[in-house]
Amino acid sequence: MPLVNTEKMFKDAYAGNYAIGAFNINNMELVQGVVQAAKDEKAPLILQISNGAKKYANIIYLKKLVEAAIEDSGLPIAMHLDHGDSFDNCKWAVDQGFTSVMIDASHHSFEENIKITKKVVEYAKQKNVSVEAELGRLEGIEDDINVSSKDASFTQPEQVEEFVSKTGVNSLAIAIGTSHGPFKFKGTPQLRFDILEECERRLPGFPIVLHGASSILPNLVDTIVDCGGVMMGAKGVPEDMLIKATSMAVCKINIDSDLRMAFTAGIRKHFKENPSHYDPRQYCGTARELLTQIVKDKLKNVLRCSGKASL
Ligand code: G3H
Ligand code: 13P
Ligand code: ZN
Repeated sequence: MPLVNTEKMFKDAYAGNYAIGAFNINNMELVQGVVQAAKDEKAPLILQISNGAKKYANIIYLKKLVEAAIEDSGLPIAMHLDHGDSFDNCKWAVDQGFTSVMIDASHHSFEENIKITKKVVEYAKQKNVSVEAELGRLEGIEDDINVSSKDASFTQPEQVEEFVSKTGVNSLAIAIGTSHGPFKFKGTPQLRFDILEECERRLPGFPIVLHGASSILPNLVDTIVDCGGVMMGAKGVPEDMLIKATSMAVCKINIDSDLRMAFTAGIRKHFKENPSHYDPRQYCGTARELLTQIVKDKLKNVLRCSGKASL
């Protein structure tokens, strides 16, 4: 099976009330861990590459890893540019063979966001590449993204129809209270499901995307802390909220921090139990196995996309 775009994935996910997992990849073990889980669960998959990943690993290597994932799994897999920051960045990804790109122009004015997104859609459409855009701004700090809480803003549902019809975009990321990274909520986690509901009402059948959707599993936080790490105040999106979102219009759930946490917990635990080990195959092997377990559980019980690869 060649790389696919996200069109059929999202159509099936919307109709079936489940979501596709979009997992950030940065190295071979992350790819292998995620792909093994998807193979075990027969789940369609989005492997996403950020500009930070590109800087870290070099796109030549990442593309070959995605190619290997396809050959190894036979699953429908989309290769997606995560948080493309300009038309040129998205054009570059399309030209590299990505089958889906995100243009994140949400920090511009509404009109400018429309203008840039439309330009990306016009280019991507010629090569059958799907385009995701964003309305509203998520709080969070990552390598290439730094939005403070004062700059974060919820999506305004009254803008979504105009945005989608003027740009021709294939999916829309919305801000309803999730944020990037492992420290998502200071108090009780809350999401603005009323905004999601209103977007869904205004855009029937249209796929919505949730960024910043890691759950920051308490057992992984505990393992990291028990093994010497510092993760004070780490908190993610509760799984029952994600399940609710996937039963609504959310068709793509972005997960990076949970992979980082699983990999780090695996390595820390391995070294705590085996302080004399120095072979990366040993500790990376443990981390990869833990990551696979975490992703399998997510695909099956949270995104509920197990068995959907065959549709
Ligand atoms: O949403 C951001 C992703 O977690 C990617 O993060 O830019 O550090 O690779 P990164
Ligand atoms: P998390 O930090 O919650 O994993 O979000 C990742 C993401 O949105 C990538 O685009
Ligand atoms: Zn994101």
